[in-house]
Order: sequence, then C-alpha cells, then structure tokens
Amino acid sequence: MSSVQTIEVHTAPAYEVAIGAGVLKTCGARLKSVLGDCRIAVVTDSNVALRYLDAVCESLRSAGFSVCSHVFPAGELNKNFTTLSGILEFLAAAQLTRTDCVAALGGGVTGDMAGFAAAVYLRGIRYVQLPTTLLSAVDSSVGGKTAIDLAAGKNLAGAFLQPAAVLCDTDCLKSLPAAVFADGAAEAIKTGVLSGEALFSLFENGTLTDAPAEIIARCIRCKAGVVERDEKERGERRLLNLGHTIGHAIEKCSGYAVPHGHAVAAGLAVMARASERLGWAEPGVSARIAACLEKNGLPTGTDYPAEALARAALADKKRSGESITIVVPRRIGGSELKRVPVTELLPIITAGLEV
Ligand SMILES: NC(=O)c1ccc[n+]([C@@H]2O[C@H](COP(=O)([O-])OP(=O)(O)OC[C@H]3O[C@@H](n4cnc5c(N)ncnc54)[C@H](O)[C@@H]3O)[C@@H](O)[C@H]2O)c1
Ligand SMILES: [Zn+2]
Repeated sequence: MSSVQTIEVHTAPAYEVAIGAGVLKTCGARLKSVLGDCRIAVVTDSNVALRYLDAVCESLRSAGFSVCSHVFPAGELNKNFTTLSGILEFLAAAQLTRTDCVAALGGGVTGDMAGFAAAVYLRGIRYVQLPTTLLSAVDSSVGGKTAIDLAAGKNLAGAFLQPAAVLCDTDCLKSLPAAVFADGAAEAIKTGVLSGEALFSLFENGTLTDAPAEIIARCIRCKAGVVERDEKERGERRLLNLGHTIGHAIEKCSGYAVPHGHAVAAGLAVMARASERLGWAEPGVSARIAACLEKNGLPTGTDYPAEALARAALADKKRSGESITIVVPRRIGGSELKRVPVTELLPIITAGLEV
C-alpha cells in the first residue's frame, strides 16, 4: 500500500495538500470532507481529458457530487482570454453558484486558467487543484497565483486565490513525456537553490525519478513556507521568481514555443553565471546549478541575443519605473532580491550569456 503524505498550508483560509499514488481515484471521498455538498465543474485540457477526466468524474459522482466538465485545447498558447472566456461562459451556462467549486485537472496551464476563472466567476468561487504534471505538483498548484498571458507578456492578467485543497497523484507522472517531466525538474531545482543544501543535494546526487513523492513534498513545504509569510508577493515571495525574469523573456521571444520549465532552466543558469561573473555569487555556484539542469535534460543557455531578452524582460511586470528587481542566487540556500536600474539589465544578461 502506498502512503499519502499531507501538508497543511497556513494561508487564510488554510488548506491541505495530499500527495500520493492513486489519490485521483479517491478524489471524491477526499474532497467531500472539504467541500461538503456542491456541484463541481472539472476544467481540464484536451490531453489530460483523454487520460484522467472519466476517472475523476466517476470518483466525484460516487461521492455524491453533481459534476460537469469543460475541456479546452492544451498548450501555453491557449492560456489566454479566449480560453478564459470559454471557461466562464461554461460555468455560467452550467449555472454554478457561489457555493459550488471548480476543479483544475491538469498542468500549470490548466491550474492558472481554471484558478483565474474561479477567482473572477461571480467575484470568486472555490476551486481545487488536481495537478498532473511535475511542474504543477512541485510548484503551481500551491500558492494561489493564477493568471493568463496577454499579447504584451506572460501572466499579465491574474488574481490571487488560494485553492480549497490540492490532490497530487504521483501516478500521473508516469504518463508525462520526458520533456514535460523536465519542465517540472526546472522548478524543483529552482526551489532547491532557494531552499538550501539539504534539498539541492538530492538533485545533485540523485534523480527526480528516485522518489518523486518525497521531492514534491519537500518542494511544496518550501513554497508553502514562503507563501505563508508573504501571500501577496510583497517581499520574500518574489524570490520564487528566481530565473523567471530571463525565463519569461525567453518564452516571449520564442512565441511560447519554449515551454515554461525549459525557459526557467535557461533563465536560472544565465542568472547564476551572471551573478558569479559580477562577483555577487560564491564561485562554483553556477557550475553546480548548470550540472543539475543538464542532468535533467534542461538547457543552460539560449540563442536569443541579450538585447532581445532585455527588451522582452523590461516589458515584463517586474519592472517598476526606471528599475527592475532581479533575484540573485548568491549561494545554494541564499538568494537575494536586487533592485537594479533598467540600464543595467542588458550588461547583466550579456555577462550571463557568455559561456
Ligand atoms: N501559478 C503559479 O504559481 C505558477 C507557477 C509555475 C508555473 N506556472 C505556469 O504553469 C505553466 C506550465 O505548466 P506545465 O509545465 O504543467 O504545462 P501544461 O499545463 O501545458 O502541461 C504540459 C503538457 O503536458 C500535458 N499533460 C499534463 N498532464 C499530463 C499527464 N499526466 N500525462 C501526459 N501529459 C500530460 C498537457 O496537456 C500539456 O500538453 C506555465 O503557464 C507557467 O506560467 C504557474
Ligand atoms: Zn515558474
């Protein structure tokens, strides 16, 4: 019998994350105690629907929930207004009320879209996260950040809304294509860099496939701690954006052809290299980070020129006036926010791109 670990996230209100093999098959019973009697609208993408939608709906129905479902086309390019509008119109047509619930079944794209829809439908209804990718398991399903992309940039419209519960079924990881699994490894390694040697050494000395439930639990515990201290990202939570300023720029330059995790990996490696070259980071940090990323089939650089990346990054929401806040990895377990004039971003990226 495989065990199920639970982690309590102490936000207001608090919620529980359950991690284990097969938890989706029992999601109905697990959610009943949290949600009580209500309707559940399961929102999922076209790939995940084929694999897991029937089992989830069946479990929810057998626990007494009234269930409806909506499927949108998979992919980051669909994390947009058109898809959001489709979800909202579906919720309205299905006559979901304020006491009902949305279930986001899928990866980070589904979680962001369905979570945002729940945050704005009727000015906010409950939602639960049922992550099916490693990325959504280790990162996006916890913390309550939801968003869609705009033509002007990534995640530019969104809301904070904590889920009512998170059920993370490690069996889902078995059907992930290797590149999608690697996307999750990028966020997990980022968490390791932020967290410290204890977590980072697991990536340095082992592989993520050794004990995925343990890795997921440790990443979630780390993220939950940060979110509990800074739910609305006014300070410390911004550290979780490590690798993301350049990562988002890479995604944007590629027209979202480079997936989020791969872009974050490259952004993390470039930022670490820049930090070391500029004397901000301990010698050797960037090589350790790059080695972990490479071991997981992730990129440690990009072919986009520094000028294009700086331009894309400066259009990003992390800019405020004439300065931008970047996350500097000084050592494993020691990253810092650094506010730099926008004119300094190009030389920083240039330093990080030099191999
Ligand atoms: N809100 C947050 O805090 C937060 C944090 C990190 C990332 N994100 C967002 O998450 C998104 C990336 O998430 P992602 O990497 O999960 O991408 P994704 O949701 O697009 O999933 C990747 C692909 O895997 C497929 N898939 C999902 N589960 C599967 C399974 N079990 N088996 C086989 N295929 C499966 C999907 O259909 C999709 O094609 C980005 O948009 C990023 O901005 C949000
Ligand atoms: Zn991310």
